[in-house]
Amino acid sequence: MKVAVLGASGQIGQPLSLLLKTSSLVTELRLYDVVHAVGVATDLNHIDTPAKVSGYLPVDNGLEKALSGAELVIIPAGIARKPGMTRDDLFNTNANVIANLLDGVAKFCPEAFVCIITNPVNSTVPIAAEALKRYGVFNPRRLFGVTTLDVVRASTFVAHTLERPNPQEFKIPVVGGHSGATILPLISQSQPPVQLTKEQLDSVTYRVQFGGDEIVKSKAGAGSATTCMAYAGFRFAQAIMKARKGETGIIEPTYVYLPGVPGGEDVAKALDVSYFAVPVELGKEGAMKAYPVGPLSDYEQDLLKTAISELKGNIAKGEAHMKAP
Ligand code: NAD
Ligand code: LMR
Repeated sequence: MKVAVLGASGQIGQPLSLLLKTSSLVTELRLYDVVHAVGVATDLNHIDTPAKVSGYLPVDNGLEKALSGAELVIIPAGIARKPGMTRDDLFNTNANVIANLLDGVAKFCPEAFVCIITNPVNSTVPIAAEALKRYGVFNPRRLFGVTTLDVVRASTFVAHTLERPNPQEFKIPVVGGHSGATILPLISQSQPPVQLTKEQLDSVTYRVQFGGDEIVKSKAGAGSATTCMAYAGFRFAQAIMKARKGETGIIEPTYVYLPGVPGGEDVAKALDVSYFAVPVELGKEGAMKAYPVGPLSDYEQDLLKTAISELKGNIAKGEAHMKAP
Protein backbone atom coordinates (compact mmCIF):
# COMPACT_ATOMS: atom_id res chain seq x y z
CA MET A 1 0.00 0.00 0.00
CA LYS A 2 1.03 3.61 -0.54
CA VAL A 3 1.08 5.22 2.88
CA ALA A 4 1.49 8.91 3.77
CA VAL A 5 2.48 10.10 7.24
CA LEU A 6 1.67 13.78 7.92
CA GLY A 7 3.73 15.15 10.81
CA ALA A 8 6.40 12.54 10.05
CA SER A 9 9.34 14.39 11.63
CA GLY A 10 7.77 14.50 15.08
CA GLN A 11 8.32 12.35 18.13
CA ILE A 12 5.53 9.98 17.02
CA GLY A 13 6.03 10.50 13.30
CA GLN A 14 9.63 9.21 13.24
CA PRO A 15 9.24 5.92 15.15
CA LEU A 16 5.89 5.30 13.41
CA SER A 17 7.56 5.80 10.02
CA LEU A 18 10.35 3.44 11.08
CA LEU A 19 7.82 0.72 11.90
CA LEU A 20 5.97 1.32 8.62
CA LYS A 21 9.27 1.05 6.72
CA THR A 22 9.70 -2.45 8.18
CA SER A 23 6.20 -3.58 7.09
CA SER A 24 5.94 -5.89 4.11
CA LEU A 25 2.49 -4.39 3.45
CA VAL A 26 3.94 -0.95 2.65
CA THR A 27 5.26 -0.41 -0.87
CA GLU A 28 5.67 3.36 -0.72
CA LEU A 29 6.02 5.63 2.28
CA ARG A 30 5.56 9.38 1.79
CA LEU A 31 6.66 11.56 4.69
CA TYR A 32 5.31 15.10 5.02
CA ASP A 33 6.09 17.70 7.67
CA VAL A 34 6.70 21.42 7.92
CA VAL A 35 10.33 20.61 8.91
CA HIS A 36 13.00 17.91 8.35
CA ALA A 37 10.85 15.44 6.36
CA VAL A 38 13.38 15.09 3.53
CA GLY A 39 16.17 14.19 5.94
CA VAL A 40 14.00 11.72 7.83
CA ALA A 41 13.16 10.03 4.52
CA THR A 42 16.83 9.85 3.45
CA ASP A 43 17.69 8.25 6.79
CA LEU A 44 14.91 5.63 6.53
CA ASN A 45 15.86 4.84 2.94
CA HIS A 46 19.14 3.28 4.16
CA ILE A 47 17.11 0.44 5.72
CA ASP A 48 17.14 -2.76 3.64
CA THR A 49 13.39 -3.27 3.30
CA PRO A 50 11.45 -2.82 0.03
CA ALA A 51 9.27 0.20 0.94
CA LYS A 52 10.43 3.27 -1.00
CA VAL A 53 10.51 6.36 1.20
CA SER A 54 10.21 9.98 0.02
CA GLY A 55 10.07 13.19 2.05
CA TYR A 56 8.15 16.42 1.38
CA LEU A 57 8.00 19.91 2.84
CA PRO A 58 5.31 22.52 2.12
CA VAL A 59 7.47 24.09 -0.66
CA ASP A 60 6.97 22.90 -4.27
CA ASN A 61 3.48 21.51 -3.58
CA GLY A 62 4.89 19.01 -1.09
CA LEU A 63 1.53 18.12 0.42
CA GLU A 64 0.08 17.39 -3.02
CA LYS A 65 3.07 15.20 -3.89
CA ALA A 66 2.87 13.33 -0.58
CA LEU A 67 -0.85 12.69 -0.90
CA SER A 68 -1.43 12.04 -4.61
CA GLY A 69 -2.21 8.34 -4.96
CA ALA A 70 -1.92 7.67 -1.19
CA GLU A 71 -4.20 4.85 -0.03
CA LEU A 72 -3.63 5.25 3.70
CA VAL A 73 -2.93 8.58 5.44
CA ILE A 74 -1.80 8.61 9.07
CA ILE A 75 -1.75 11.98 10.86
CA PRO A 76 0.27 12.70 14.01
CA ALA A 77 0.85 16.38 12.99
CA GLY A 78 0.41 19.18 15.50
CA ILE A 79 1.45 20.08 19.01
CA ALA A 80 1.60 17.78 22.05
CA ARG A 81 0.84 18.40 25.72
CA LYS A 82 3.15 19.77 28.38
CA PRO A 83 2.58 19.31 32.13
CA GLY A 84 -0.55 21.12 33.33
CA MET A 85 -2.28 20.99 29.93
CA THR A 86 -5.35 19.01 28.96
CA ARG A 87 -5.78 17.59 25.47
CA ASP A 88 -8.44 20.23 24.91
CA ASP A 89 -5.78 22.91 25.46
CA LEU A 90 -4.29 21.72 22.13
CA PHE A 91 -7.55 22.48 20.33
CA ASN A 92 -6.84 25.94 18.91
CA THR A 93 -3.58 24.97 17.19
CA ASN A 94 -4.40 21.42 16.18
CA ALA A 95 -7.90 22.16 14.87
CA ASN A 96 -6.39 24.33 12.15
CA VAL A 97 -3.59 21.83 11.40
CA ILE A 98 -6.15 19.06 10.87
CA ALA A 99 -8.54 21.25 8.85
CA ASN A 100 -5.69 22.27 6.50
CA LEU A 101 -4.28 18.77 6.09
CA LEU A 102 -7.74 17.29 5.44
CA ASP A 103 -8.27 19.93 2.80
CA GLY A 104 -5.29 18.32 1.08
CA VAL A 105 -6.67 14.82 1.59
CA ALA A 106 -10.00 15.91 0.06
CA LYS A 107 -8.23 17.35 -2.99
CA PHE A 108 -5.46 14.85 -3.63
CA CYS A 109 -6.53 11.44 -2.25
CA PRO A 110 -10.26 11.63 -1.41
CA GLU A 111 -10.64 7.85 -1.28
CA ALA A 112 -7.79 7.20 1.14
CA PHE A 113 -8.27 5.61 4.56
CA VAL A 114 -7.45 8.34 7.09
CA CYS A 115 -6.22 7.70 10.65
CA ILE A 116 -6.15 10.68 13.02
CA ILE A 117 -3.70 10.54 15.92
CA THR A 118 -3.56 14.32 16.58
CA ASN A 119 -5.20 15.40 19.83
CA PRO A 120 -7.78 16.17 20.98
CA VAL A 121 -9.00 13.14 18.98
CA ASN A 122 -12.55 13.60 20.34
CA SER A 123 -12.70 16.89 18.39
CA THR A 124 -10.13 16.49 15.59
CA VAL A 125 -12.04 13.58 14.02
CA PRO A 126 -15.28 15.63 13.74
CA ILE A 127 -13.13 18.47 12.34
CA ALA A 128 -11.66 16.10 9.74
CA ALA A 129 -15.16 14.92 8.79
CA GLU A 130 -16.39 18.49 8.34
CA ALA A 131 -13.34 19.33 6.20
CA LEU A 132 -14.04 16.35 3.92
CA LYS A 133 -17.75 17.26 3.76
CA ARG A 134 -16.82 20.67 2.30
CA TYR A 135 -15.60 18.81 -0.79
CA GLY A 136 -18.41 16.23 -0.71
CA VAL A 137 -15.95 13.39 -0.11
CA PHE A 138 -16.61 12.37 3.50
CA ASN A 139 -16.75 8.58 3.69
CA PRO A 140 -17.37 7.66 7.37
CA ARG A 141 -16.18 4.14 6.67
CA ARG A 142 -12.69 5.48 5.95
CA LEU A 143 -12.13 8.01 8.74
CA PHE A 144 -10.75 6.66 12.01
CA GLY A 145 -9.68 8.24 15.28
CA VAL A 146 -6.80 6.12 16.61
CA THR A 147 -7.65 4.94 20.14
CA THR A 148 -5.46 1.82 20.04
CA LEU A 149 -3.15 3.18 22.74
CA ASP A 150 -6.04 2.93 25.22
CA VAL A 151 -6.53 -0.73 24.22
CA VAL A 152 -2.80 -1.41 24.59
CA ARG A 153 -2.81 0.26 28.02
CA ALA A 154 -5.80 -1.77 29.23
CA SER A 155 -4.06 -5.09 28.46
CA THR A 156 -0.78 -3.86 29.90
CA PHE A 157 -2.16 -2.54 33.19
CA VAL A 158 -4.38 -5.60 33.80
CA ALA A 159 -1.41 -7.91 33.19
CA HIS A 160 0.82 -5.86 35.50
CA THR A 161 -1.86 -5.88 38.21
CA LEU A 162 -2.27 -9.65 38.00
CA GLU A 163 1.50 -10.16 37.64
CA ARG A 164 1.02 -12.01 34.36
CA PRO A 165 4.04 -12.08 32.02
CA ASN A 166 2.35 -11.36 28.67
CA PRO A 167 -0.11 -8.43 28.45
CA GLN A 168 -1.25 -9.56 24.99
CA GLU A 169 -2.91 -12.51 26.70
CA PHE A 170 -5.76 -10.10 27.65
CA LYS A 171 -8.16 -8.76 25.01
CA ILE A 172 -10.05 -5.85 26.58
CA PRO A 173 -12.30 -3.55 24.56
CA VAL A 174 -11.97 0.16 25.29
CA VAL A 175 -14.83 2.33 24.06
CA GLY A 176 -15.82 6.01 24.18
CA GLY A 177 -13.39 8.78 23.34
CA HIS A 178 -9.70 9.48 23.85
CA SER A 179 -9.32 11.73 26.88
CA GLY A 180 -9.76 11.20 30.61
CA ALA A 181 -13.31 10.31 31.61
CA THR A 182 -14.39 9.76 27.98
CA ILE A 183 -12.15 6.65 27.87
CA LEU A 184 -14.07 3.60 29.03
CA PRO A 185 -12.14 0.33 29.46
CA LEU A 186 -14.55 -2.60 29.59
CA ILE A 187 -12.68 -4.82 32.02
CA SER A 188 -15.86 -6.87 32.57
CA GLN A 189 -15.55 -8.04 28.95
CA SER A 190 -11.89 -9.10 29.23
CA GLN A 191 -11.02 -12.28 27.40
CA PRO A 192 -10.00 -14.34 29.28
CA PRO A 193 -12.19 -12.97 32.11
CA VAL A 194 -10.34 -11.41 35.06
CA GLN A 195 -11.24 -10.98 38.71
CA LEU A 196 -10.00 -7.70 40.16
CA THR A 197 -10.69 -6.31 43.61
CA LYS A 198 -12.57 -2.99 43.69
CA GLU A 199 -9.30 -1.25 44.49
CA GLN A 200 -7.53 -2.92 41.54
CA LEU A 201 -10.44 -2.12 39.22
CA ASP A 202 -10.39 1.56 40.25
CA SER A 203 -6.66 1.71 39.78
CA VAL A 204 -6.58 0.02 36.34
CA THR A 205 -9.55 2.08 35.10
CA TYR A 206 -7.93 5.31 36.28
CA ARG A 207 -4.58 4.44 34.69
CA VAL A 208 -6.22 3.67 31.32
CA GLN A 209 -8.20 6.91 31.47
CA PHE A 210 -5.31 9.07 32.65
CA GLY A 211 -2.27 7.11 31.43
CA GLY A 212 -1.46 10.00 29.10
CA ASP A 213 -0.96 12.29 32.12
CA GLU A 214 1.43 9.77 33.66
CA ILE A 215 3.76 10.10 30.65
CA VAL A 216 3.37 13.88 30.28
CA LYS A 217 4.32 14.30 33.96
CA SER A 218 7.22 11.88 33.77
CA LYS A 219 8.67 13.54 30.65
CA ALA A 220 8.52 16.88 32.50
CA GLY A 221 8.00 19.16 29.52
CA ALA A 222 9.66 17.04 26.82
CA GLY A 223 6.35 15.83 25.36
CA SER A 224 3.70 13.16 25.75
CA ALA A 225 3.36 9.50 24.74
CA THR A 226 5.48 8.87 21.64
CA THR A 227 7.06 5.41 21.33
CA CYS A 228 4.05 3.56 22.79
CA MET A 229 1.86 5.64 20.48
CA ALA A 230 4.01 4.77 17.47
CA TYR A 231 3.58 1.09 18.42
CA ALA A 232 -0.19 1.52 18.80
CA GLY A 233 -0.51 3.57 15.61
CA PHE A 234 1.44 0.97 13.66
CA ARG A 235 -0.71 -1.82 15.09
CA PHE A 236 -3.86 -0.04 13.91
CA ALA A 237 -2.32 0.76 10.49
CA GLN A 238 -1.35 -2.91 10.05
CA ALA A 239 -4.95 -3.93 10.87
CA ILE A 240 -6.27 -1.55 8.19
CA MET A 241 -3.71 -2.72 5.61
CA LYS A 242 -4.39 -6.42 6.27
CA ALA A 243 -8.16 -5.86 5.98
CA ARG A 244 -7.64 -3.89 2.77
CA LYS A 245 -5.70 -6.84 1.37
CA GLY A 246 -8.64 -9.14 2.06
CA GLU A 247 -7.92 -10.63 5.49
CA THR A 248 -11.22 -11.14 7.33
CA GLY A 249 -12.27 -11.16 10.98
CA ILE A 250 -10.23 -8.11 11.98
CA ILE A 251 -12.00 -6.17 14.74
CA GLU A 252 -10.39 -3.16 16.44
CA PRO A 253 -11.88 -0.48 18.67
CA THR A 254 -11.68 2.89 16.87
CA TYR A 255 -13.39 6.28 17.07
CA VAL A 256 -15.78 6.67 14.14
CA TYR A 257 -18.84 8.59 12.98
CA LEU A 258 -21.32 5.89 13.96
CA PRO A 259 -24.32 6.77 11.77
CA GLY A 260 -22.11 6.35 8.67
CA VAL A 261 -20.86 2.84 9.50
CA PRO A 262 -23.02 -0.27 8.95
CA GLY A 263 -24.58 -1.24 12.28
CA GLY A 264 -23.51 2.08 13.81
CA GLU A 265 -26.78 3.95 13.48
CA ASP A 266 -28.44 1.76 16.12
CA VAL A 267 -25.42 2.10 18.40
CA ALA A 268 -25.52 5.90 18.01
CA LYS A 269 -29.23 5.93 18.85
CA ALA A 270 -28.79 3.68 21.88
CA LEU A 271 -25.93 5.82 23.23
CA ASP A 272 -27.31 9.14 21.99
CA VAL A 273 -23.92 10.23 20.61
CA SER A 274 -22.64 10.50 17.02
CA TYR A 275 -18.88 9.84 17.36
CA PHE A 276 -17.75 7.03 19.64
CA ALA A 277 -15.03 4.38 19.73
CA VAL A 278 -16.54 0.90 19.51
CA PRO A 279 -15.19 -2.40 18.21
CA VAL A 280 -15.27 -2.07 14.41
CA GLU A 281 -14.85 -4.84 11.87
CA LEU A 282 -12.41 -3.73 9.19
CA GLY A 283 -12.60 -4.84 5.57
CA LYS A 284 -11.51 -3.97 2.03
CA GLU A 285 -13.78 -0.90 1.92
CA GLY A 286 -13.01 0.30 5.43
CA ALA A 287 -15.30 -0.01 8.45
CA MET A 288 -17.66 -2.90 7.62
CA LYS A 289 -19.57 -3.11 10.90
CA ALA A 290 -19.74 -1.20 14.17
CA TYR A 291 -20.54 -3.37 17.18
CA PRO A 292 -22.56 -2.28 20.24
CA VAL A 293 -20.70 -1.75 23.50
CA GLY A 294 -22.21 -4.99 24.83
CA PRO A 295 -23.24 -5.82 28.39
CA LEU A 296 -21.74 -3.44 30.94
CA SER A 297 -21.25 -3.87 34.67
CA ASP A 298 -22.96 -1.32 36.96
CA TYR A 299 -19.52 0.24 37.46
CA GLU A 300 -19.09 0.70 33.69
CA GLN A 301 -22.68 1.98 33.25
CA ASP A 302 -21.89 4.87 35.58
CA LEU A 303 -18.67 5.67 33.73
CA LEU A 304 -20.53 5.51 30.40
CA LYS A 305 -22.90 8.34 31.40
CA THR A 306 -20.01 10.64 32.27
CA ALA A 307 -18.10 9.66 29.11
CA ILE A 308 -21.02 10.46 26.81
CA SER A 309 -21.81 13.79 28.40
CA GLU A 310 -18.18 15.00 28.15
CA LEU A 311 -17.75 13.60 24.66
CA LYS A 312 -20.80 15.44 23.31
CA GLY A 313 -19.18 18.76 24.27
CA ASN A 314 -15.92 17.81 22.52
CA ILE A 315 -17.76 16.78 19.34
CA ALA A 316 -19.87 19.93 19.29
CA LYS A 317 -16.75 22.06 19.77
CA GLY A 318 -15.05 20.47 16.73
CA GLU A 319 -18.12 20.82 14.53
CA ALA A 320 -18.73 24.42 15.63
CA HIS A 321 -15.11 25.30 14.79
CA MET A 322 -15.67 24.23 11.20
CA LYS A 323 -19.01 26.01 10.90
CA ALA A 324 -17.71 29.32 12.29
CA PRO A 325 -17.25 32.00 9.62
P1 NAD B 1 5.71 16.48 18.01
O1 NAD B 1 5.64 17.95 18.32
O2 NAD B 1 6.93 15.75 18.38
O3 NAD B 1 5.47 16.25 16.45
C1 NAD B 1 4.48 16.88 15.74
C2 NAD B 1 4.99 17.10 14.33
O4 NAD B 1 3.94 17.71 13.57
C3 NAD B 1 6.22 18.04 14.25
O5 NAD B 1 7.25 17.43 13.51
C4 NAD B 1 5.68 19.27 13.54
O6 NAD B 1 6.65 19.90 12.71
C5 NAD B 1 4.55 18.65 12.71
N1 NAD B 1 3.56 19.62 12.25
C6 NAD B 1 3.02 20.65 12.93
N2 NAD B 1 2.15 21.30 12.14
C7 NAD B 1 2.13 20.66 10.95
C8 NAD B 1 1.43 20.85 9.74
N3 NAD B 1 0.56 21.84 9.57
N4 NAD B 1 1.67 19.99 8.73
C9 NAD B 1 2.55 18.96 8.87
N5 NAD B 1 3.24 18.74 10.00
C10 NAD B 1 3.03 19.58 11.02
O7 NAD B 1 4.41 15.83 18.68
P2 NAD B 1 4.14 14.27 18.92
O8 NAD B 1 4.62 13.89 20.26
O9 NAD B 1 4.61 13.50 17.73
O10 NAD B 1 2.53 14.28 18.99
C11 NAD B 1 1.75 14.56 17.84
C12 NAD B 1 0.27 14.58 18.20
O11 NAD B 1 -0.18 13.28 18.56
C13 NAD B 1 -0.11 15.48 19.38
O12 NAD B 1 -1.28 16.21 19.09
C14 NAD B 1 -0.35 14.49 20.52
O13 NAD B 1 -1.20 15.00 21.49
C15 NAD B 1 -0.99 13.36 19.73
N6 NAD B 1 -1.01 12.06 20.41
C16 NAD B 1 -2.13 11.27 20.25
C17 NAD B 1 -2.21 10.02 20.82
C18 NAD B 1 -3.41 9.16 20.60
O14 NAD B 1 -3.57 8.16 21.33
N7 NAD B 1 -4.25 9.41 19.63
C19 NAD B 1 -1.14 9.55 21.61
C20 NAD B 1 -0.02 10.36 21.76
C21 NAD B 1 0.04 11.62 21.17
C1 LMR C 1 -1.96 9.70 25.41
O1 LMR C 1 -3.02 9.13 25.67
O2 LMR C 1 -0.89 9.36 25.96
C2 LMR C 1 -1.95 10.78 24.35
O3 LMR C 1 -3.24 11.17 24.00
C3 LMR C 1 -1.06 11.93 24.64
C4 LMR C 1 -1.54 12.82 25.77
O4 LMR C 1 -1.63 14.03 25.56
O5 LMR C 1 -1.79 12.31 26.86
